[in-house]
Amino acid sequence: MSNRGRLAILGASGHGKVVADIAIHAGWQDITFYDDVWPRRTRLEHWDVRGTLAMLLHDLPHFDGVVVAIGHNGIREAKLDALLNHGARVVSLVHPRATVSPLAQLGAGSVVMAGAVVNAFAELGMGTIINSAATVDHDCRLEACVHVAPGANVAGDVEIRRTSWIGAGAVVRQGVTIGEGVTVGAGAAVVSDIDGHLVVAGVPARPMTPTQGDDSIADPPAEGSNVLRLDLTSIQGRS
Ligand SMILES: CC(C)(COP(=O)(O)OP(=O)(O)OC[C@H]1O[C@@H](n2cnc3c(N)ncnc32)[C@H](O)[C@@H]1OP(=O)(O)O)[C@@H](O)C(=O)NCCC(=O)NCCS
Repeated sequence: MSNRGRLAILGASGHGKVVADIAIHAGWQDITFYDDVWPRRTRLEHWDVRGTLAMLLHDLPHFDGVVVAIGHNGIREAKLDALLNHGARVVSLVHPRATVSPLAQLGAGSVVMAGAVVNAFAELGMGTIINSAATVDHDCRLEACVHVAPGANVAGDVEIRRTSWIGAGAVVRQGVTIGEGVTVGAGAAVVSDIDGHLVVAGVPARPMTPTQGDDSIADPPAEGSNVLRLDLTSIQGRS
């Protein structure tokens, strides 16, 4: 436990509270938050919010570890890059009631929550989140800053490219590849490969149709189909 002394968490939000809880369970002794909302926010529950990212970069020598607790996958990736470029000791956090195979690999800054399972030979890139009771099975490869939301199940040999988000309770069939920046809706069943930057939902998962500002999809969904309508702006990070 000697290297689990002072932990800095970037991101003073609801997700940050859960990450702090995991850190306590994992034996970290002293937790301090940083967030660019400082000085408008100086406390999060009973923790101090001490400053912005720029101030954290300055304070790095005071910490034994740093983790980014920002739900938006793209923003989390950018902040992690900044920290790593400044030589921060970015650590991973695994809840003691998660099951992570010793044969799996966790990238720097990964967070594995209570009840989650990461099985043998799965590889998680930096900044991945495996949320409560989610499972990632054998030989999966998740690139940087993928988020598998609570209760989602990713079967074996699945590849998920950077910053994609697998919604709560979704299921991904074995062997499927999900492109970069994809959002998979809650409860979806992904049974075939998904191109990058799509929002998919339903059983089986189909792309949702933008209703504004995208001329590339001209035809409305057929009556009774499971193609859905939505405005694609800023979906990721909602929770
Ligand atoms: C798929 C998703 C991204 C769409 O978000 P959105 O653009 O805000 O969508 P809306 O809520 O405006 O819904 C648009 C339509 O899609 C439907 N819809 C939304 N999410 C759906 C889903 N997961 N599955 C099936 N249909 C869905 C809505 O019922 C609505 O249908 P309607 O036009 O017939 O009324 C979002 O609903 C979702 O599932 N996000 C994942 C949430 C999650 O897992 N959170 C975990 C946080 S850790």
